[in-house]
Parts: sequence; structure tokens; C-alpha cells
Amino acid sequence: MSSLLCRALRCSNQERPPIWIMRQAGRYMPEYRAMREKYAFLEMCHKPELVAEATLLPIKQLGFDAAILFSDILVLLEAFGVPLRFEERVGPAIDNPLRTAADVDALPHPDLETGLHYVPEAIRLLRPQLNVPLIGFCGAPFTLASYLIEGGSSRELKRTKQWMLRDPESFHRLLTKLAQSAIEYLKMQIAAGVDAVQVFDSWAGVLGHTQFREFSLKYLKLIVEGLRETKVPVILFCRGSSLFATQLAEIRPAAVSLDWQGDLKHIRTLLPEGVALQGNLDPDLLYADVPTIRKEATRLLDAMKGHPGYIFNLGHGIHPDTPVDSVRALVDLVKSR
Ligand code: CP3
Repeated sequence: MSSLLCRALRCSNQERPPIWIMRQAGRYMPEYRAMREKYAFLEMCHKPELVAEATLLPIKQLGFDAAILFSDILVLLEAFGVPLRFEERVGPAIDNPLRTAADVDALPHPDLETGLHYVPEAIRLLRPQLNVPLIGFCGAPFTLASYLIEGGSSRELKRTKQWMLRDPESFHRLLTKLAQSAIEYLKMQIAAGVDAVQVFDSWAGVLGHTQFREFSLKYLKLIVEGLRETKVPVILFCRGSSLFATQLAEIRPAAVSLDWQGDLKHIRTLLPEGVALQGNLDPDLLYADVPTIRKEATRLLDAMKGHPGYIFNLGHGIHPDTPVDSVRALVDLVKSR
């Protein structure tokens, strides 16, 4: 019998929906913070034993129905020879961001086997220790490009959008390189044993409708089609997915992961039957008292009641200051259905 997650991703789950949450192995968990006292974030990403330990924490402590590999979308950039830093309370930083078309053309074809060997190693280490499916992931080309150009997180992505609009040819060349390596990277994770993959286009929400199609969707499509032969389900998440849900469904991923702004029930009516939905509780809701959390989560569960392709999740990553007991209450509620 396959897992609840895998059945939901194939729109054939007759039982309660599975639950996992984005950033489920993270700072809201005291056990994670204890690991971070000893190791830097990137050091944790690079060591298979630590990746395995962090991935397992939320499964053991909170009982989620799926594990997501502990890593980060930005480690792929290291394989391009781009040095990466994570600064406390600031986030990721890249010291030499891309500035010109020549910088794009100078990016080497990354050697993933060498540069990211620790990822398949961690997956192989984890597999026998898990009794739930394992989700692999990567960043989408547009979102990765934004980090390469901005040099870190940025609210408006001004440089990225200026580049995209002023020199679309070199921007497309960059997106193409990133899409090719994302496919290769996900295939490497699949070969090592992940059961599903999620592509994060976190920053696609800054794009308008037409630009989304040209600079984000086109490359998500390359990834979805590049992985079709593996038969491993692909979940697509972006901020803005409530708005872009029908476009995302057009390229036929296994599932669309909705941000917290859209109405799940309404969006369900807009999508083709064979595409599953994941989401979409507002991560801020976990700051509410437990009865409110139960009420809002029940609203989502009722909206999707009886639907064979529904996966409970948040509309974005969990905040580091979320009370862990609130997460426990949420998991228990979904599992009691
Ligand atoms: O979901 C999971 O539990 C799996 C692990 C995971 C992490 N990052 C761990 C992480 C995943 C899937 C990601 C994806 C990721 N990373 C995205 C896309 C999803 C999203 O949130 O939009 C993005 C944009 C990044 C880049 C990134 N990594 C940023 C902007 C930050 C800093 C912000 C922050 O929350 O601190 C990170 C750091 C990061 N990635 C942490 C974790 C657990 C916190 C690091 C720490 O312990 O200090």
C-alpha cells in the first residue's frame, strides 16, 4: 500500500489528507535550535548525518505524514562555483552577484556529482530510517536567478526585474542554465530514492501575469517535462500560486501548492481533476490560540472533504517563532479526521 502522500499526489486518496509543512525542520523546534548551537546552517546542509538527523526531527517529534529533505534551494548555486553564506538574522548572501550578460555566459556547467555529492548520500542514509515518504526539492529558475542577481533576499527584486526587461536574451540564457541543472539535480535526488519533488518559485509572485508565463512558467514546464519519464510526482509552489494556479495546472504537475491568500475551494473548481492541491493555511494563523487554529484548519479540511487529491500544508514556510504546541495541535487535528 502506498503512502497517503503518494496517493493524494495521484488524486486517489480515499482516507484523510496527509499533512506536512514547509520548513518543518526549522527553528520553531527546540531540538533543531539545539543542533544549530553546535553547527552552522550550511555545515548542517553539507553533512549527510546531520541532514538525516534534522530531516527526521519533525517526523519523530510531531508525526508528519511526509519528510522533506533538510537542505536549501541555494546549495545548487555552490555547484556553479558561487560561494554562499548564511548570516544570522539576515539570511543568504552571495558576495559576487551577477552583473552582466558576460557573467551569465561565464557560469560553468555545474558538476553536481562532485559539488552536491552529500545530497544523494543523505537521501540514501535516510531512506531506511523513514516510515513516511521523502520529498526532495529544488529552487525554480526564476527564484534562483533572483538570488544570483540580487546577492541575497530582496523584497522587490528591482535589479532582477530591470535585467529581465532590459536584456531578456541573457536573462533567458540564465534561466535555461538553471532549468537544466535543476532537472539534473532532481534526477540525482530521484535516483537516490526520494518519492516526490517540490519546486519552489518563492519569488515568482513579483511577476505580472504575462511575465510570469514568459520567465517563470516556461522554465517550470521544462522541469515538469524533463522529469515526466521518472514518473515521480512534481509539486509546484510559488508565492502567487493562488493567482497563477490555472497557469501552473496547465503544465500538468502532480500538484499545485497554494499560497495562503487564495480560496482553496474556489481554486479547486478552476483546476483540472487530475491535478492535486496542497495548502494553504496562513503561517501567521499558528500565532492564534489553539481553538482558532482548529477552527481555521477544519474550514480547509471541510472545503476539501472527500477530495482524493488534497494535501494539508501551510501557504508558505512556518515562522521560526511559532509555538511548537500549536503545530502539534494542527497535526493532531488533521490526523484525527
Ligand atoms: O522545508 C523544509 O523543512 C526543508 C528545508 C528547506 C530550507 N529552505 C531550510 C532552511 C527548504 C525547502 C528551503 C527552501 C528555501 N530556501 C526557499 C524556498 C521556500 C521559501 O521559503 O520561500 C528559499 C527562498 C530559501 C532561501 C533561504 N534559506 C532564505 C531566504 C533563508 C533565510 C530566511 C530564514 O528563514 O532564515 C534560508 C535559511 C533556511 N533554510 C533556514 C532553514 C531551516 C534557517 C536557517 C537557520 O537555521 O538559521
